[in-house]
Amino acid sequence: MAIDKVWSSQISHRAGELCLGGIAARSLATNFGTPTFFLDEQDFRDRARAWKSALVGAFGDHSGNVYYAAKAFICTEVARWVAQSRIGLDVCTGGELAVALAAGFPPERMQVHGNNKSMAEISQAIEIGVGVIVVDSLIEIARVASIAKSLGKSQKILLRLTPGIEAHTHESIATAHEDVKFGFSIASGAAWEAILKVCTHKEIELIGFHSHIGSQILATDAFGVAADRVIELAAKFRDEFGYELAELDLGGGFGIAYLPGDVPLLPEIVLPALWTAVESACQKYRLGIPKVSIEPGRAIVGPAMFTLYEIGTIKKVILENGAERNYISVDGGMSDNIRTSLYGAQYTGIIANRNCSDELALSRVVGKHCETGDIVIRDIYLPVDVVPGDLFAVPATGAYGRSMASNYNHVPRPPVVAVIDGKARVILRRETPADLLRLDM
Ligand code: LLP
Repeated sequence: MAIDKVWSSQISHRAGELCLGGIAARSLATNFGTPTFFLDEQDFRDRARAWKSALVGAFGDHSGNVYYAAKAFICTEVARWVAQSRIGLDVCTGGELAVALAAGFPPERMQVHGNNKSMAEISQAIEIGVGVIVVDSLIEIARVASIAKSLGKSQKILLRLTPGIEAHTHESIATAHEDVKFGFSIASGAAWEAILKVCTHKEIELIGFHSHIGSQILATDAFGVAADRVIELAAKFRDEFGYELAELDLGGGFGIAYLPGDVPLLPEIVLPALWTAVESACQKYRLGIPKVSIEPGRAIVGPAMFTLYEIGTIKKVILENGAERNYISVDGGMSDNIRTSLYGAQYTGIIANRNCSDELALSRVVGKHCETGDIVIRDIYLPVDVVPGDLFAVPATGAYGRSMASNYNHVPRPPVVAVIDGKARVILRRETPADLLRLDM
């Protein structure tokens, strides 16, 4: 039973200990070490399925694909779960593609993204027969066309459009306003120019438009505005070319709960809202309803993982206003979770190995790296009796945690351990000092 929606479904609490799949935190730490990312496999699979069935439920015959956004977190085992969930995969680099291929992921269910795909990445994608390439620039239109021609192939593409939306999220992860590196602006006419350009190449088949407005978005309205603008352009396309584009991809970005009280954008809420927006825009512009696809990353893997740390040192400081703050250092930090320092992201966390005092103190959970910005949780009230050796669990670290992890200060990156049916297994092992040295000549 989940103790809060920031935790995954197989989390429970027993005698003061956090348990995943019935396995207590102390036992997880003893068997796998800390810090470690623990991945609730059932929760991941259920979320992948929930997005797929909510898309079908809302869009019926007009449902396209759910593409899991690999950038949130991927390894070969997770790519296999995605394949088994009968959904597609969005990859945006040759590296993500390599993982997908190593897992045996079917290329025809992949969609390839990126604002600066290399010639090698484009060639490989076309050669192996990926389903769709999402084309981002005029230069890329020419590149995809010439590579497809030289390989004697035809490639399906979507054009990535920027519908001019200021999504309500952190500046670094909003992607659909005008002044952005991604895609073709609708307002400036760049999108129309791209359409005309595509039509000069018979090796590329334009099947529709793509729009991704940003990440960690908690309201549905911006998706609706984006859909309206993109569909308006699709109607203009129909007027000019005499046929309708079959597909529309509305991207990912569905926000999750990081703190108790956050309201996530659940599939059963956002997809019916998207259907309403798409249906009414299609009516407004007298267009048939296309097949609609989405690309959730965070919303599938984010809530399914938590990070387990061990607490090391503890120090008390007196603040300017006379109040006290405890600095609680854990054995990881900005190398396994850069989101707090990069985006001011907020997390919650608990002492995971025992019942603690009810008396709480203002605390800051920090890592072991050599800078003051190495913060896991900026402000949190934690029990006053925390001691070195206690375990500290941070929920909702599945997306953009391990995938953005670094070796700063030559800290080995943590493993990912999957838990299902009461059994835990390493799916991505912990790095070792040998891994850190393997590139040195
Ligand atoms: N599709 C496209 C084209 C994207 O660029 C992204 C994310 C997604 C789908 C998946 O978005 P999601 O559903 O996971 O929000 N590192 C940042 C997030 C960057 C997202 C980049 N693109 C963070 O930690 O918040």
